[in-house]
Amino acid sequence: MTTEAFSTIIEPFRIHSVEPLRLTTPEQRRSAVRDAGYNLFQVRAEDVLIDLLTDSGTGAMSRDQWAAIQHGDESYAGSPSYYRFRDAVRELFPFEHVIPTHQGRAAEKILFGVLGGPGLVVPNNTHFDTTRANVEATGATAVDLVIPEGRDPQSLHPFKGNLDVDALEALLAERADDVPVVFVTITNNSGGGQPVSLANLRAVREVCDRYGKRLFLDACRFAENAWFIREREPGQEGRAVVDIVRDIAALADGMTMSAKKDPMGNIGGWLAMDDDDLAARCRNVLILTEGFPTYGGLAGRDLEALAQGLTEVVDHDYLRYRIASTAYLGEALRKVGMPVLQPTGGHAVYLDARALLPHLDPLQYPGQSLAVALYEVGGVRSCEIGTVMFGRQPDGSERAASLDLVRLAIPRRTYTQSHIDYVIEVCERVVRTADDLPGYRIVDEPPALRHFTARFEPLPS
Ligand code: F0G
Repeated sequence: MTTEAFSTIIEPFRIHSVEPLRLTTPEQRRSAVRDAGYNLFQVRAEDVLIDLLTDSGTGAMSRDQWAAIQHGDESYAGSPSYYRFRDAVRELFPFEHVIPTHQGRAAEKILFGVLGGPGLVVPNNTHFDTTRANVEATGATAVDLVIPEGRDPQSLHPFKGNLDVDALEALLAERADDVPVVFVTITNNSGGGQPVSLANLRAVREVCDRYGKRLFLDACRFAENAWFIREREPGQEGRAVVDIVRDIAALADGMTMSAKKDPMGNIGGWLAMDDDDLAARCRNVLILTEGFPTYGGLAGRDLEALAQGLTEVVDHDYLRYRIASTAYLGEALRKVGMPVLQPTGGHAVYLDARALLPHLDPLQYPGQSLAVALYEVGGVRSCEIGTVMFGRQPDGSERAASLDLVRLAIPRRTYTQSHIDYVIEVCERVVRTADDLPGYRIVDEPPALRHFTARFEPLPS
């Protein structure tokens, strides 16, 4: 009998080395967040009990990854660690050129530096914020073409990350010459960690072929996406995740990658592609900004850890646990009356702060209010994804974002079920006092990316 016959989700690992968590009192937390200008990015990590700010670079490495680190070869050129890394990437994504970078945004900066430029347009299901920023930094426009269900927090569509193929076709029919590359982000982080189906990728490929366009993947959470395909897509059930990943890769011409997510790294990324000429141009930039092409901004030991991590993330027991445990949190929160984005995504649960706090106007930042409350009540750190992050317009004015969400991102293999049960209890307590939560105003903000450093003040209730 396998553990699938039982309903308890067990972590398919046991603890080998521990990191202490510092318990704090509500008074200590209220004072810490006040000193931080009510901005959770400004709170010291030591003052956080359960840190769900991001799943990026915050996962626990395995015994075998730490062992692999000892094999790191720090040769400047041609390190065996590079070849192990390259071969591990190619096992899943068999692209001709694999170019390591220090993290995902470095791969984006290099690629869009080469392919972007004023007047060009890059479509994506939804650009992650660094992807959008790197497209726009070249003078190009980033357009989001996710299917309409992907914008509806309550839609139960199984592949809410899908790209709207008709909208892509319409864009290309009008402006094909201006589109240097079509992107698909798997899973769609900014849209709730929602997956993209193989059928959708095939349809996107077909349109790209008709217009002679490159298709690239932003593949940070590829293994979670492949697991959803196995679970939800007709004809894919029971297949090996590695085979699904290879099918995904075969539909694309290249990829950008943050290895801080599914590859189980604390740092790292890569850029991969088949096109020799494009790869040569990217490597020339890489040498200027990251490093020699066989290490590209990473140490040999980092490359070793990633090569090993890539073999672990496609393990079915791991992925079953990963997706089930995120769904467990989403389901439990719904039961305690917390409005959550449906269905639960792969790496995170997104709380609908605007629905929970209808007494607050979006310009009183309901997401910020909820995030601060989760911290004050239970030391849980989350991330506002709403009007604080997206509300400020290039002309300096402000308007409500389309949604006011708070993301609880789950670091990989880091927290146990009791930690998650505690988060559920904290959320339940916050739901009970929701009517009393204050709005906020910004007292100081930088000209761009204000969510990282802005200072806030609670409004009198
Ligand atoms: N693309 C996606 C879909 C991402 O989620 C991220 C990072 C990046 C690109 C950039 O990668 O951080 O290695 O430079 N997402 C993190 C998050 C930061 O919290 O969602 P990076």
